[in-house]
Amino acid sequence: MSVLIAPSILSADFARMGDAVAAVERGGADLIHVDVMDGHFVPNITIGVPVVKSLRRIATVPLDVHLMIEDPDRYIDAFAEAGAAMISVHVEALRHLHRTVHAIRALGVKAGVVINPATPVGAIQDVAADVDFVVVMSVNPGFGGQTFIPRSESKVREVRALLDAAGNRAPVEIDGGVDQHNIVRVVAAGARIIVAGSAVFNTPDPERATRELKAAALGAVTSAVPR
Ligand code: DX5
Ligand code: ZN
Repeated sequence: MSVLIAPSILSADFARMGDAVAAVERGGADLIHVDVMDGHFVPNITIGVPVVKSLRRIATVPLDVHLMIEDPDRYIDAFAEAGAAMISVHVEALRHLHRTVHAIRALGVKAGVVINPATPVGAIQDVAADVDFVVVMSVNPGFGGQTFIPRSESKVREVRALLDAAGNRAPVEIDGGVDQHNIVRVVAAGARIIVAGSAVFNTPDPERATRELKAAALGAVTSAVPR
């Protein structure tokens, strides 16, 4: 894998979601990132299983479902059934992270673990060999359009090192506040799945924004040390 761009549908116009997906796919989106929020784990409420099901019907790329919910174990089957290709769960929400990771994989879905800005990288150490990807939150989850937290860049490096030490080539995903200005740095730090919400959809031309982000990311990966 080189580097994948995952536009976050959260910042799209929910009344025209089909158009939003089509536009970013024309721009070269590799995944569609779907932010599920329950008003408990995070202060915001967004979308759930039926929307994932509808997105699955129209999207031609895989759906990357980010669960920002309490008790995610209760909903994993439903999101898998709805068509998620990847499901990520927050370590802060789970008492039995290892069990949950394996439960997701048993459904034939790629399992990711997510760490919040205040969560140390060591929190995922004991599942580092088991995960299909790790998501570093570069904002506090809950809303699109927030400012990138600079410390996240070194956190990406730490997660990459942790995965490497576990012998796991799983990619590091970065989520929150990524734009044209910082994408090169996060890719150089080792991120290989790049989520972008407002940098794609809060622009006049989401197709073009996707294409430009992807070009910047691919440029950074080819000039970086091979991983
Ligand atoms: C934040 C979400 C992000 C968000 C990214 O809680 O998990 O995926 O949509 O949006 P931007 O790129 O605007 O920070
Ligand atoms: Zn997200």
